[in-house]
Amino acid sequence: MKVLVTGGTGFIGSHTVVELQLAGHDVVAIDNFENSSRSVLDNIAKITGKPVVFEQADIRNKEELKAVFTKHSGIEAVIHFAAYKAVGESVLKPLAYYENNVGGTVNLLQTMAEFNIHNLVFSSSCTVYGNVEANALPITENSPVVKANSPYGNTKKICEELLQDCAKASPINIVSLRYFNPIGAHDSALIGELPMGVPNNLVPFITQAAIGKHQSLTVHGNDYPTPDGTCIRDYIHVVDLAKAHVKAIAFRSSNNYAVFNIGTGNGNSVLEVIQTFEKVSNQPLTYTIGPRRQGDVVQIFASCEKAINELGWKAERSLENALETAWKWEQHLSQ
Ligand code: UD1
Repeated sequence: MKVLVTGGTGFIGSHTVVELQLAGHDVVAIDNFENSSRSVLDNIAKITGKPVVFEQADIRNKEELKAVFTKHSGIEAVIHFAAYKAVGESVLKPLAYYENNVGGTVNLLQTMAEFNIHNLVFSSSCTVYGNVEANALPITENSPVVKANSPYGNTKKICEELLQDCAKASPINIVSLRYFNPIGAHDSALIGELPMGVPNNLVPFITQAAIGKHQSLTVHGNDYPTPDGTCIRDYIHVVDLAKAHVKAIAFRSSNNYAVFNIGTGNGNSVLEVIQTFEKVSNQPLTYTIGPRRQGDVVQIFASCEKAINELGWKAERSLENALETAWKWEQHLSQ
C-alpha cells in the first residue's frame, strides 16, 4: 500500500515508518519538525536501506496538506501521529492543543475526503479510560471513556468521537489505537525518543539520570494502593507498537470504525521499572520518593484479547528488552 504517515519523524512515527518500509509498503512521511529532527530521515534509511519520501508540512495548514496529496498521488491509507502530547503543557496552553490535535485532525480528514482516501489509523491513548478501579483490570475496549483530566486527554477523546461520527457519515474505514505506555528504541540505536527539555515520562528520565544528566530520580508517590505503593502502567516496546500499525492499515471493520488497546497486558510498578533498568543496564540509580504527581492514575494495564483475535497482533518484546534498547539509545545520543 501507499501510506501517508503524519508525524513521521517523531518517536512512534519513525519506528512505524521503518516497520512499514520493511513490510514492503510505500511510505510518504510528513512532519513539521516542531518536536523532531530531519536527521531521523537518514537514520530510518540506514535501517531499512530505503530513502524516506518526505515533505515538510504542518497539519494545521490545509494548503500544505493538499500539496502533499497532490504531489504524491495514489495514497491509500493515512496513519495520523502528528500531535502535541505533554499533559502539563496542555493545561497551560489548551488552545494550542485543540488547534493542533483536533483542528489538525479535521484538516486531515477534509483533505482525505477531497482526495478520496478512505483509510485512517489514529493514535489514541489509554488516557481515555481515566482512573479505573482495580477490579476493572485488565481494561477492555468496552470500558467507558470518561471525562478527560487534561486538555491533552480531551483532544484524544474528542478526536475519537469525531472519527466515529465521520465513520457513520461517509464510507471511511477508521482504526483508533489506544496506546498504553510506549518506551524503548530501535535495536540499531539509530532512532528513539528525543524528549525536548527535561522529560516528564519515566523511562526517558531514568535513562537520562543513568547517563548523568540528572542527579537523582523522583518516584512520584509510594503510598498508592498497589503491592509496592507505586503506580502501575503497561509499558510497551515502541517496535511492537509500530508493528500494530502495519496490521491496522489492513484492518477493515464491519461498521467502519474500530478501536484496539495496544499494550502488553502486563502491569509494572515504577519501582519494578527502576529495578529492571538497573539489572539490564548494570547502572545503579539514585532515587528519592516524592509526593504523588497530580493527575496520575493509580494503575492501568490492557486487555489485549481484541487486538490478538481481530487484528492478529500481539506484543512480543519484554520490559527488559525495552529498557535495554532505551539505554542503548541514550548512550548513542551521548556519544
Ligand atoms: C503520560 C500521560 C499520558 C500520555 C503519556 C505519553 C499523565 C498523567 N499521563 O502517561 O496521558 O499518553 O504520558 O507517553 O501525564 N514517574 C515517576 N517519576 C518520574 C516520571 C514518572 O515516578 O520522573 C511515574 C509517574 O508518576 C507514573 C509512571 O512513572 O506513575 C509513568 O509516568 P509517565 O511515563 O509520565 O507516563 P503516564 O503518566 O502513564
